[in-house]
Amino acid sequence: MTQPVVLITGAAGGLGSALARRFVDGGWRVAASDINSDGLHALANSLPLAACETIDLRRPINCTELLSRVLASTGRLDALVNAAGVWREGPVESCSEAEFDLVMDVNLKAAFFMCAAAIPALRDSRGGIVNIASDAGHQGNRNAALYCASKGALTLLSKTLALDLAPDGVRVNCVSPGDIATPMLDFQAEQYGNGDPQAYKRELLALYPQGRNARFIRPDEVAELVWFLCQPYAEAISGANLAIDFGLSAGK
Ligand SMILES: NC(=O)c1ccc[n+]([C@@H]2O[C@H](COP(=O)([O-])OP(=O)(O)OC[C@H]3O[C@@H](n4cnc5c(N)ncnc54)[C@H](O)[C@@H]3O)[C@@H](O)[C@H]2O)c1
Repeated sequence: MTQPVVLITGAAGGLGSALARRFVDGGWRVAASDINSDGLHALANSLPLAACETIDLRRPINCTELLSRVLASTGRLDALVNAAGVWREGPVESCSEAEFDLVMDVNLKAAFFMCAAAIPALRDSRGGIVNIASDAGHQGNRNAALYCASKGALTLLSKTLALDLAPDGVRVNCVSPGDIATPMLDFQAEQYGNGDPQAYKRELLALYPQGRNARFIRPDEVAELVWFLCQPYAEAISGANLAIDFGLSAGK
């Protein structure tokens, strides 16, 4: 049987590399892409990749180019996982246009045009898309209006695409994690922790219903859910936004 192919964006990141590992372990061919070429090469040294493309996805033309390069190497596409993302926080009044554009361009525009570029190949394979949103995509996170806006939009993009592509047998879902132990979380704590990254992390954990047993989610836990969604036995799941957040977004 032909091995299925997954294209993962943000593959050099904490979640992206766990996703790559999970799909390789499951016998899929993995096409990995990221703007971070060093990180991508490190991944390629540790895993057998079907394709490895360094590219900045903020430009739609690069999304099209990425798809052509991947299809040239693999000949097919069964799943697209949009995991590239950036975090910025701070009051709306002090957000610059450049910061707004960065977050929207990576978290929303790149995912939008990656979906657009992948749709023809996914129609051929009757494959699927998983967009990595966030708990910040279905509830407000204080001081992170821009990030929330980008992930909220990504969530509704996914639901709408699920409706539009259902007649073609293409499924589209969102996975919305709470705080995952990745370089993004370390960046948040370093950048916005007022010199005390551990205190920043403690404040995040204090929001979880587990109380003092709260912990950050491991990237492999999220990767397992994405893997599940891409399997034929998950055929009935489309248009879903699945939380993996220890109940963080379940209510007050
Ligand atoms: N870490 C968390 O707590 C958390 C929680 C919820 C959702 N998420 C989401 O999960 C996804 C993965 O994040 P992560 O935690 O692994 O972060 P990460 O920073 O480790 O990985 C993100 C990756 O995206 C890549 N990227 C950034 N800009 C890009 C661009 N212009 N073109 C191509 N690639 C680009 C980065 O180089 C990086 O490798 C993101 O969409 C993030 O918003 C993360």
